[in-house]
Amino acid sequence: MVEERIVKIQSRALELIHGANSPEDLERVRLDTLGRKGKLAEISKEMGKLAPEERARAGKLLNAAKQAIEEAIEGRKAQSGEAALRARLDAEWIDLTLPAPGPRAGSLHPITQIQMELEDLFTSLGFMVLDGPEAETEYHNFDALNIPAEHPARDTQDTFWLTDGNLLRTHTSPGQVRGMERFRPPLRMVAPGRVFRNESVDASHEHTFYQLEGMMIDRDVSVAHLLYFMKTLLREIFHRDVTVRLRPGFFPFVEPGFELDIQCFICGGTGCAVCKHSGWVELLPCGLVNPNVLRISGIDPDTWNGFAFGLGLTRLVMMRYGIDDIRLLQSGDLRFLQQF
Ligand code: FA5
Repeated sequence: MVEERIVKIQSRALELIHGANSPEDLERVRLDTLGRKGKLAEISKEMGKLAPEERARAGKLLNAAKQAIEEAIEGRKAQSGEAALRARLDAEWIDLTLPAPGPRAGSLHPITQIQMELEDLFTSLGFMVLDGPEAETEYHNFDALNIPAEHPARDTQDTFWLTDGNLLRTHTSPGQVRGMERFRPPLRMVAPGRVFRNESVDASHEHTFYQLEGMMIDRDVSVAHLLYFMKTLLREIFHRDVTVRLRPGFFPFVEPGFELDIQCFICGGTGCAVCKHSGWVELLPCGLVNPNVLRISGIDPDTWNGFAFGLGLTRLVMMRYGIDDIRLLQSGDLRFLQQF
């Protein structure tokens, strides 16, 4: 019976429309029932064979079915459009009555943080904190530190010279000279700051890095005093015992001179790019002040002596935080800096 088939097609189509999850599902139902080759079109073609009375009834039914299916499809489309809009509005909802978030709070660079910790520590030990110029005179950077022109020690610090004959300081040691010029002994000072060398950059070498200079001048200062301050410094920064080694080191401004290395924190001493596969990182050269240096700055070496050290602040930061490439520290990458 044609009429029965129409009713079946309609109810099946309505069922499918109700369960449709996407516009594609709806389109499939439309083509399958209302399309030119769809089920209802097929029935239309058969109508001619029906008796006139039956044809009239079936025709009405067919039109009603088409209309019902079309309406159901439109209804469902509108419904899913509404649902999608509601979901979007929910997701994009913002509360305009909330106060604006304002600019993001910044934080201190890890080098600055450790520099400030060290300044606090040395202040508590009776040291002054001094500053000095980054564009230095040759006299303060070299000559007054017992490194005359032509001295081979100048070659170990490849220097950026300025056109006016000055230079970018290669270390913070000119801070010693400026400290001695300004203050008379007894003297305890630290001078942190940025230094510059024409270095080829790698995992542990930068052309621009930070040091913290220290100097104590008094009567009868010995290597024991020097080691006490160096150990205190390292304990304060690492909050635990650090494996160190002391070996002779040559710097014209100290005598005797030492290199204090710490066991590499990145690899635990087994060897990596930061420690150049030696297991040790050069961190804290130091020694007793060479009497010539005192004499050049007008201090009598028969009455006074002292110790000095030049801490590699950038490398200290690397060791404390386990940073395996020095270049990250000056990369300006906020994803890196926000961790501190
Ligand atoms: C000096 O600069 C001496 N002025 C230190 C000194 C002061 C010795 C007082 C005695 C008395 P040196 O060139 O070794 O020494 O550098 C000191 C530290 O700076 C090194 O141990 C290392 O930790 C750090 N350093 C040196 N070169 C670089 C570099 N290119 N990048 C990062 N850190 C460096």
